[in-house]
Amino acid sequence: MASLKLVYKTMNDLTGKIALVTGASSGIGRTLARQLAAAGATLILTSRRQAVLEEVAREIAPAVAVAIAADLRHPEALARLTAGIKKRFGRLDLLFNNAGVGLHALSIDTPPELVRQLFELNFFAPVELTRQLVPIMPRGAAVINISSIAGKLPLPELNIYCSSKYALNAFSDGLWIELRQRGIHVMSVCPGYVKTAFGENLLMGKPVGNVPGQKRFSISTDECARATLDGLARGKRTVVVPRIGWLLIAFARLFPSFVFSRMADRVKRRDNVSGQAKP
Ligand SMILES: NC(=O)c1ccc[n+]([C@@H]2O[C@H](COP(=O)([O-])OP(=O)(O)OC[C@H]3O[C@@H](n4cnc5c(N)ncnc54)[C@H](OP(=O)(O)O)[C@@H]3O)[C@@H](O)[C@H]2O)c1
Repeated sequence: MASLKLVYKTMNDLTGKIALVTGASSGIGRTLARQLAAAGATLILTSRRQAVLEEVAREIAPAVAVAIAADLRHPEALARLTAGIKKRFGRLDLLFNNAGVGLHALSIDTPPELVRQLFELNFFAPVELTRQLVPIMPRGAAVINISSIAGKLPLPELNIYCSSKYALNAFSDGLWIELRQRGIHVMSVCPGYVKTAFGENLLMGKPVGNVPGQKRFSISTDECARATLDGLARGKRTVVVPRIGWLLIAFARLFPSFVFSRMADRVKRRDNVSGQAKP
C-alpha cells in the first residue's frame, strides 16, 4: 500500500520529475513524451535517430527535453546513455522502457541473429537500463515496461516477439516484488493493436493482416499513453489496453486447448496456401 501511495503522489505532480522515455522518436514513446511534458516532467528522450529526437524536443517545448541517441541493442551505447543521465541529472523518477521491435515469421524460419537482435532490444535493454538506473531512483519512482498483449498469449508467427514480451512481463512481476521495499513501483503495460509505424519496422516479415478484431479494437497512441499514465497514477501493476484484452487473456487461460488448436489451424491454412504443408 505504501508504494501505491507514493506513485499516486508522483503522478499528481510531475513538475521537477525526470523521466526517461526509450523509443521516443515515434509511436507510443513519442506520445508518452508529449503527455509527460504536458504534465510538467523534464524529459530525456532516446532512440537511434538524434535528428528526430530533437524534433520531438522542439515539439514539446517549453518543457525541458534532452535528446540522446543510442542504439540500445549495443551495451556500450546503453552504458554511455546511463552515464550521461547520471552525470547531467544524478536522479531519475520515471523510467519508460518502451523501445521495441517486432518480427513476423515462424520460429523455425527465423535466423538466430534476428532472435538475438530482437531480445537485445525488447528484453536485455530494459533489464540493463533498470539495473544501471535504479541506483539513482528515489522512493516514489517507477519503472514502466511497455510490453504487449503478445506477452500474455502466444500468437503464431509472432512467437519470437511474444517470447520477448513474456520474458519482459515475468521480469516486471519479479522486479515489482524486488523493488517494493525501496518504494519503487513497477508497472507492465500490455497494449493490443496501437496505430503506429510498428508494422513497418519489423525485423523480418510483413505486418500481420486479417487478424480478427485487429481493426475494430486498435487504439491511438494517445489512448495508449493515457492508459499508461492513468495506470501509474492508480498504482497498477499491469495495464491491458484496450481493457477488452483482459477477456482474451482470460479466455486463453481458461480454454488453452481450444485457443491453441484454433491458432494451429490458422498456421496449417497458411502453410497450405503457401504450398509448404508437411505430410
Ligand atoms: N504498435 C503496436 O500495436 C504495439 C502493440 C503492443 C506493444 N507495442 C510495443 O510498444 C513499444 C513501442 O512501439 P511502437 O508501436 O510505438 O513502434 P514504433 O513506432 O516502431 O516505435 C519504436 C521505437 O523504438 C525505437 N527503436 C527501434 N530500434 C531501436 C534500437 N535498436 N535502439 C533504440 N531505439 C530503437 C524507434 O526509434 P529509432 O528508429 O529512432 O531508433 C522508435 O522510437 C514497443 O515495445 C512495442 O513492442 C506496440
